Amino acid sequence: MENSGSPLIRVCELKKIYVQGKIRTPVLNGINLSVMQGEYVGIIGKSGAGKTTLVNMLGGLDDPTEGDIEIGGTHIQQLNEVEKARWRGTKVGVIFQSFQLIPGLSLIDNILLPADFTGRLRNGPNESREKAASLLETVGLADHMLKRPAEISGGQQQRVAIARALINDPEILLADEPTGRLDSATSATIFDLFDRVVDAGTTVVLVSHERSLAQRTKRIIRLAESKLIEESDGNHSGRTSV
Ligand SMILES: Nc1ncnc2c1ncn2[C@@H]1O[C@H](COP(=O)(O)OP(=O)(O)OP(=O)(O)O)[C@@H](O)[C@H]1O
Ligand SMILES: [Mg+2]
Repeated sequence: MENSGSPLIRVCELKKIYVQGKIRTPVLNGINLSVMQGEYVGIIGKSGAGKTTLVNMLGGLDDPTEGDIEIGGTHIQQLNEVEKARWRGTKVGVIFQSFQLIPGLSLIDNILLPADFTGRLRNGPNESREKAASLLETVGLADHMLKRPAEISGGQQQRVAIARALINDPEILLADEPTGRLDSATSATIFDLFDRVVDAGTTVVLVSHERSLAQRTKRIIRLAESKLIEESDGNHSGRTSV
């Protein structure tokens, strides 16, 4: 997709300090980031650098201490919780590092949850179910549809989380260490899936502490010392360490 016009994601002077009693943990300190529609961006950084924190801010799942996030013209912090949830449900798919599956629901119902939430089920329950089943098949879990999360492996749970993030055809996919629990062959099928998602016009932000994985993206940004550092576009030689 042509990278012209204004950015889809615009992050301005973002700061995040976690405060627990008297303990203050500064994590992000003046982050600026612009991502164009259709871009495939990798964010790398060491464990504890703040990658998940940033994903949570981009998905409207947590509030920044300071700064602004504008996505598709919407200033996320100006939305109330209900508006945020609706916005996220229709625009954003999040693959959580910790999966966040609902234990009491079958795998297919976990995948259908965002569709249910945004009202698409009401528009076409069978269509949504077929789509969920097809996503389960794409991630190699067609035979496990009716199992509960506790009845499958960690890597299989991760693949359910991937399928769930895609059920509503999000404009933006936030993928937080999406292959952290997968073997290399299964990871490769997931990265092929992401390539197809990008080809379909979705903006993908992939987070990983592994540079080699992020090299599948078109642009790598490194999070270090609470700041984002843009790395050379299109020249991912892998020389620098995370
Ligand atoms: N809810 C919280 N309350 C307090 N501190 C937090 C909270 N969440 C994260 N932190 C701290 O913020 C820092 C960044 O955490 P974060 O999870 O964003 O790192 P990360 O880059 O995603 O790491 P990893 O690669 O291990 O997933 C860490 O020092 C962590 O301990
Ligand atoms: Mg993380």
